Amino acid sequence: MKENDYYQEKTCIVTGGNSGIGYALCEELLRRGANVYMAGRDPSKVAAAARALGDHGERLRTLIVDVTKQDQVQRAIEGAAGEAGQLDLLFNNAGIGGTIQYEKATLEDWKTIIDTNVWSVIYGVHAAVPIMLRQGAGHIVNTSSIAGIVPPPMQALYSLTKFGVTGLTECLRYEYAEKGIRFSTICPANIATPIFKKSIDGTVHEQLGIPDDAYPVEKAVNEILDKVAAGAGIIVVPEKPWTSMWRKYWAGDPEIEEFLLKMAHDRRESFETKGTYY
Ligand SMILES: NC(=O)c1ccc[n+]([C@@H]2O[C@H](COP(=O)([O-])OP(=O)(O)OC[C@H]3O[C@@H](n4cnc5c(N)ncnc54)[C@H](OP(=O)(O)O)[C@@H]3O)[C@@H](O)[C@H]2O)c1
Repeated sequence: MKENDYYQEKTCIVTGGNSGIGYALCEELLRRGANVYMAGRDPSKVAAAARALGDHGERLRTLIVDVTKQDQVQRAIEGAAGEAGQLDLLFNNAGIGGTIQYEKATLEDWKTIIDTNVWSVIYGVHAAVPIMLRQGAGHIVNTSSIAGIVPPPMQALYSLTKFGVTGLTECLRYEYAEKGIRFSTICPANIATPIFKKSIDGTVHEQLGIPDDAYPVEKAVNEILDKVAAGAGIIVVPEKPWTSMWRKYWAGDPEIEEFLLKMAHDRRESFETKGTYY
């Protein structure tokens, strides 16, 4: 099967679908022939994002769901699957960033980021697995991060959540392979989205830009969807230089040890002089 055909007529739910990677996923899934439920927490943002995608008739629908609330996630996923008669792909994509010096983080920050990045995925998987088991098929795609396979300094909170997502998704990939349910973990690195402007508490800092070297989101999503269709487990995007860095880190390469120590130094200096890490 060609990568593009994989999504034809499939029912997909994308959380965090109104912005960044989630929005680009909705757009590209529609282009590849899928029926898409764009899920987001803010009705006006979701409506505006859905409008921006144009008229896809019944192929694009919206769901209002705060992913930190189990009852909302459960209702949204069961409702969409019931309405469509099937649930083929669930993209647990919603999440928040968190690049902050460890000593500056409050316990409230920890709670917010774990609720948003970890419990959201647990709730999504919890709702989708029984449906997919009944169907004997399905694909759950959880968004982790490069910080979910390599530990960047000043990202202890974020990295904890994303290592959790990677671990959960990889375990389930093996556990459910013979039951027909596929699992993929997306590990993006530096993709050009509004995430760089937001802090853990949701404040948007308009004065912060997106890093110049960030990878274009449409390109990232095309690569992601090709690899999801091919059944890949861990999907690092962009592949260069991050895949080799990931492998070298786990091989104990001194070059990566030096790189991460320098990153810690540079980020601390940047926080102290500019108030941001880049
Ligand atoms: N961009 C990168 O470089 C990068 C790198 C690694 C991993 N990621 C991961 O990629 C995923 C998407 O991020 P992005 O870069 O596309 O950022 P983004 O543009 O900020 O999008 C995040 C989306 O998640 C939604 N969201 C946050 N909290 C939510 C909640 N409680 N309930 C429902 N929706 C919620 C946001 O909704 P609102 O618009 O209402 O806030 C938004 O739609 C995240 O999991 C992120 O950790 C991104």
